[in-house]
Amino acid sequence: MSTAKAKKHSKLYRHIETLQGERPWGALLDAGTGVKSVSWVTGLATERWTAVTGAPHFVEQVRQTAGSALRPQDRVVLGNWVDPKLLEGDVYDTVLADYLLGAIEGFAPYFQSYLFKRLRPLTRTTLYVTGIEPYVPTGRPDSRAGQLVWDVGRFRDACVLLKGGMPYREYPSPWVVDQLKRAGFAVTAVKHFTSQYKELFINAQVDIALHGLEALPDTALVQALHGRGEALRAEARDIIKAEGALRTCKNYVVAADPITNG
Ligand SMILES: C[S@@+](CC[C@H](N)C(=O)[O-])C[C@H]1O[C@@H](n2cnc3c(N)ncnc32)[C@H](O)[C@@H]1O
Repeated sequence: MSTAKAKKHSKLYRHIETLQGERPWGALLDAGTGVKSVSWVTGLATERWTAVTGAPHFVEQVRQTAGSALRPQDRVVLGNWVDPKLLEGDVYDTVLADYLLGAIEGFAPYFQSYLFKRLRPLTRTTLYVTGIEPYVPTGRPDSRAGQLVWDVGRFRDACVLLKGGMPYREYPSPWVVDQLKRAGFAVTAVKHFTSQYKELFINAQVDIALHGLEALPDTALVQALHGRGEALRAEARDIIKAEGALRTCKNYVVAADPITNG
């Protein structure tokens, strides 16, 4: 991949490229696909790739993002990892679980501790897991930026719950490492990256919170929540103006290889 192309992808993907080194990507499974991961995957020298999502509206979005890079051997699959028939018997050299773990709560609550066992037989050589250290179910941070990100996360999750949805549930990297070992993987690398959130990120979180609130019967509550959302956007703008970015969240990449007997 050219440097120009590599630069447009996140530090996490670039780190995975470094970990992969000269080893071929072979057949690749994007086990929790989205626009970002599929954009990255289509630029890699794979033999074939399969992108899985549990969200019907992602299927078309991911196909469109892949565009002409979607070859006859590549597939976008709608399914749920709780279904034992999903990709049964298929094996991939490289498996990517990119922010999949945190999203499981919305598609298969309580399945998180089975996820890596589920992906184990599909993984021939390396599994890469990306995620974010939990920042919502923590004490209120001390820094202004930390508080704002925490407030936005709690506001978003509260609104999602009010609307009848399930918020993401992120897991810490030590939990991931432990679960990978239990699932029969040897962890080969763990690395953290500090996010530099700008207005785009905060706006996206507030948009998730506010979208569809009008369906709630309590109009005064809806109005108050809209007010709170706009206040959070404004506060984020102020802090970002002063500090350049919100640097409070830590993302991680964990690499693991299946342990084979003999
Ligand atoms: C946060 S999004 C993915 C992020 C993505 N890699 C990107 O490009 O930014 C999580 C993905 O995992 C999928 N997912 C979550 N739980 C799932 C499950 N139980 N079975 C299948 N897919 C699931 C979602 O449908 C979605 O496609």
